[in-house]
Formats: sequence, structure tokens, C-alpha cells
Amino acid sequence: MSGFDKDWLALREPADKAARDAGLLNMLAQTLRDGNPEGKRPPNLLDIGCGTGSTYRTLSPLLPKNTHWRLLDYDPALLAEASARIGEGSPVEFRQFDLNNIDALPLAGTDVVTASALFDLCSANFCDRFVGVLAPTGAGLYAALNYDGQMKWSVVHPLDAAVTADFNCHQRLDKGFGAALGPDATHHLAGALSAFHYRVLTAESPWVLDERSAPLQRELLEGIANAVREIGELVPEEIEAWLTFRLEQADVPGSLCRIGHQDLLALPG
Ligand SMILES: C[S@@+](CC[C@H](N)C(=O)[O-])C[C@H]1O[C@@H](n2cnc3c(N)ncnc32)[C@H](O)[C@@H]1O
Repeated sequence: MSGFDKDWLALREPADKAARDAGLLNMLAQTLRDGNPEGKRPPNLLDIGCGTGSTYRTLSPLLPKNTHWRLLDYDPALLAEASARIGEGSPVEFRQFDLNNIDALPLAGTDVVTASALFDLCSANFCDRFVGVLAPTGAGLYAALNYDGQMKWSVVHPLDAAVTADFNCHQRLDKGFGAALGPDATHHLAGALSAFHYRVLTAESPWVLDERSAPLQRELLEGIANAVREIGELVPEEIEAWLTFRLEQADVPGSLCRIGHQDLLALPG
């Protein structure tokens, strides 16, 4: 079990879809279409940390119908859900794989590796090892929706900055790959890829949530409060006061919550 349940991933998928930078998505799709003239082999994508297949559902409508996908995750329950949602008969393979075995990542024939909401969980060492196995294959990378450390609300609370600082500390704890990069993930990946002469583009992809996303906001706020409790810098009364205020605001029409993310597209130079 990865700790990411399918209900949380389903709750966040519409916000993720709306947040992804359209420019980078279209550039990736165009690159894959241009590289797929009549008669050439279809594009081959490898989605790592696929969850229930959010990246596949967003990207596949933009790509040639015969695009071949392999979806990898180490969580069998999420892979089963991905398989159930994507269905039989599609050009998609599902594979259980622990990314800590990065040297064995099945990259042969892959044009582009995709990932969403993954690299902010990963350590600098993992990202360097990943780029080290990716670059010699000449495959590209689309790494979307990495948290960038910025949380803002249109109606402020005096503890927003302290909560954000503690949450960002928590984001840097070990999430299964060693100390996580958290908010530094996109910057670190961009540097590692540039060192291998990739052309790297990044763009902001924030969630901008209003009262229509109150269920997502509520889950997110409870998760933030749990993380802040674990860090232990704020006293419980402060955390409860902040959480109570934020939960009330989640339902207020026009009250906005902005959670910063970044997308990255790296194509071989
Ligand atoms: C935040 S979820 C994102 C899922 C999906 N990409 C999405 O955007 O909905 C992170 C995913 O990484 C997977 N993951 C975490 N550690 C992993 C590992 N060591 N090997 C493979 N997958 C892993 C989790 O199971 C989970 O599906």
C-alpha cells in the first residue's frame, strides 16, 4: 500500500486536470504527433507512479489513437483501479514496479516518461539516479504537478505563513525515497536534466480552488493539519483554530485557495 487511496486521487483529479499547464501539454502532444508520421511505430509512453491513471486520462485524448502506454506503480490496489477504469482492449499495460529499483526501470523503446504529483515525494539522490538512467535512452520527461511550496488564501488567517512553513518542512520528510525534495523538486530535476543537455521548460500549474471544490479543500486541509501536528512547532490550539477557520472558508462563495505546483517538460537537446 502506498498511502495514496483511490478516493483521494479521484477527488484531486479534476483540479489536477484544470491546473496542468496547457502550453506544455500541447507541446508534448505536438512533439509526439510530429514524431509519428504515417508508417512509423506508434509513440510509446511510460507513466511512473501512475496511481489510477490520471495522466493517461488527461494526455491520451491529445495523442495518436495507437499510442502505447505502460503504467507503473508499486501499489497493486491503485493498479487494479487504473485497470478497471481504463478498461480492456486499450493499448495500455499495467505493471507493478517499485521505483526504488530505478536501475531496472523498463525504458527500452520509451519516447517519453510521464509522471504527475510524484517527484516532490522523491529525494535529490533518486532524481539524479532517475535522470542518469533516462538520459542515455534519449527519452523525454513530462513531470507535472509538483508542489512548489506556495499556499495562499484570498481571506487570510494570521497562522497561514506558519502553517505553510511547517507543511513545507513535512514535505521534505522521507516519503519512501529518502529525504524528499518537496518544493525543490522541479528546480532540482530541471538542473539535473539540463546537465544532460535536455531542453527544459517549466510552467506554473496551481490549483485555484473555490467553494465548488469544498470536498477537495476539506481533505487537503485535514492533511495539512495532520502534517503540521507531526512537525510539532505550533501548539494544538493554534492548529485547531487555523483548521476550523479554513474549513469554514472552504464553503464560502468566492473565497479562494491557491496551492502552487509546477509542471516540467524536458525534451532531448
Ligand atoms: C500523489 S500519487 C500520484 C498518482 C498519479 N500520478 C496522479 O497524478 O493521480 C503518487 C503515486 O506514486 C506512487 N508511488 C509512491 N512511491 C512509489 C514507489 N516507490 N514505486 C512506485 N510507485 C510509487 C504511489 O503509489 C502513488 O500512486
